[in-house]
Amino acid sequence: MKVLGIESSCDETAASVVEDGRVLLSNVVHSQIDIHKLYGGVVPEVAARSHIEMINPVINRALSDAQLTWADIDAIAVTYAPGLIGSLLVGSLAARTLALTKNKPLYPVHHVEGHVYANFITEQRNGLDSTLPSKQPAFPMLALIVSGGHSQLVLFHNHGNYELLGQTQDDAVGEAFDKVAKILGLAYPGGPSIAKAATAGNPHAYHLPKAKMKGAYDFSFSGLKTAVLRAVQAEVGVDTTFPSHELAGLLNKSQIADFAASFQYTAVATLVDKTEAAFRDYSPASVVIAGGVAASTELREQLSARLPIKIEYAPMALCTDNAAMIAALGYYYAQKKQPTSPFDVEVIPSLSMTKTAWA
Ligand code: KG4
Ligand code: ZN
Repeated sequence: MKVLGIESSCDETAASVVEDGRVLLSNVVHSQIDIHKLYGGVVPEVAARSHIEMINPVINRALSDAQLTWADIDAIAVTYAPGLIGSLLVGSLAARTLALTKNKPLYPVHHVEGHVYANFITEQRNGLDSTLPSKQPAFPMLALIVSGGHSQLVLFHNHGNYELLGQTQDDAVGEAFDKVAKILGLAYPGGPSIAKAATAGNPHAYHLPKAKMKGAYDFSFSGLKTAVLRAVQAEVGVDTTFPSHELAGLLNKSQIADFAASFQYTAVATLVDKTEAAFRDYSPASVVIAGGVAASTELREQLSARLPIKIEYAPMALCTDNAAMIAALGYYYAQKKQPTSPFDVEVIPSLSMTKTAWA
């Protein structure tokens, strides 16, 4: 079964064709990062307008890269939640229109759940050449989902059957990377620019606290972000009233590298502590990481060093927002669920993954 996936929930316009939830036939991602960089973050109206311009060319390219025509497509999957409302509307309207005009079954899927399914893609064709996992993860599967909007540990008993073990009580970890990058004067998105700056830094230069949480698998990153801010203020000798956007100008290159490395080390160690605790308590058959922060090399290294099983990671390009993960999840939906009428698809900007209608 060949599923066309469409993703437009934030600042990537993406379309992809995946066969049987595992074989990547095409993967087209148009990133708006260069536009939003100018503003230091995503501007919702600008994002929606760019999606409108790009959605049709991106979908057409996904079909041509896959060397397929509409007659070959068996179903369409689209992100309907969560995300920016204007962005979600563009992708869902395109998917609804195509489902009607091309007469294809339509499966609206959850973006965060979709991230996990990047790990189910194990084969590729048409000249794609990422390093993919050698096999699909086995259940029960422990998933650490870490993106710009989410930080959670979820135990999957099977497709569509999972429980939330813990989640962030304040900021998502990707959000913390983005905010700390801003403090340090590094470019948006913060994850990759902090990783780059950190290569020249000492991860133990500044001692930053790990939050103590009541829930064994819960996270908190807002205190860590504030701890970086206070440490930077102390380092350059200003008080808390000093404008934070002017702080970076007082730091030299080696201080920035040390702050980036110390923050990255502590944020990742926090994620790994909780994942290790959940692994010990639930003995899953596999562990996967998902979401934009799963692209972090530091996370991959710390996790592999601390968990007693071999972990296979999805390629970086399938960790940040893409439509292959949406198409892969759409396949598993199609195995268990009736399609949704194109007239009934509604976008939901804020929706927990545990509230999706798998039953
Ligand atoms: O999943 P994603 O592409 O979009 C959301 O659904 O949020 O995640 C974006 C987040 C951003 O906060 C970005 O800073 C972070 O993923 N990120 C990283 C890395 N690459 C992207 N964080 C840490 N290390 C990276 N290498
Ligand atoms: Zn995402």
